[in-house]
Amino acid sequence: MADQAPQQAEFVERFLDRKAVERYRDRYRTGRHARVNQMERAALRDMLGSLGRLTTALDLPCGTGRLGDLFAQIADRVILADSSQLMLEVAREDLGDGKYEYLQTHAEQIALPNDGVDVVFCHRLLNHIPDPAVRARIVQELARVSRRYVLLSCYPPGLRTRLKLTLRNLLGMHDPAKQPATITEYIDLAQRNGLRVVRRHVLRRLPVTAELVLFEKTRAVAITNRPAAA
Ligand SMILES: C[S@@+](CC[C@H](N)C(=O)[O-])C[C@H]1O[C@@H](n2cnc3c(N)ncnc32)[C@H](O)[C@@H]1O
Repeated sequence: MADQAPQQAEFVERFLDRKAVERYRDRYRTGRHARVNQMERAALRDMLGSLGRLTTALDLPCGTGRLGDLFAQIADRVILADSSQLMLEVAREDLGDGKYEYLQTHAEQIALPNDGVDVVFCHRLLNHIPDPAVRARIVQELARVSRRYVLLSCYPPGLRTRLKLTLRNLLGMHDPAKQPATITEYIDLAQRNGLRVVRRHVLRRLPVTAELVLFEKTRAVAITNRPAAA
């Protein structure tokens, strides 16, 4: 998207190269990341187990689809969406078609109608978006397309990212107004978009707590974007 901050553009470009995409898929299969993957799957399974049977679930961004199968267990239709066509291609190679649909779209302007899905899951995206205005737009879009639930992972940055940010701030390479959000900010933002907290699940305790937070929609959200039909 044209108005991306340099840091955000860097993040998006990471997923536009086939080798990098395959590396992303493979890193969750071994070592420390495999353990993170197992932990996140268990947390997500637990959250999804409380939702009952659903018609449509949206995983945005789905990446290479490592969590997609969990949605297929609770929903008749699963939309795996991402801004990177390559990520979607690799996801499709693993998961195939059947219950899955693949959608290239941007979280800032999701190509789905209002109330089009029962649950939208947004995992490991907002922590990479430094601009609060863009984060706000994304949460508004998530609330718009869901008729019931929004499931957000709130991953305030760990030590390495904090160090990098401090260094960039010191070198004047970073706009101090563009900082990662805290869990409280995520929740405030969701509440401003008509979402109330239903359940919270801790994903990580140190150095800063990270959580999976389940929200339920309490009112219709004003529409500012006009997405194309799915
Ligand atoms: C860190 S990965 C997380 C993927 C997946 N949720 C997971 O946990 O494996 C981030 C993903 O976000 C996608 N992405 C980046 N910016 C996006 C945007 N504005 N809208 C939709 N997807 C985006 C990237 O292509 C990438 O697949």
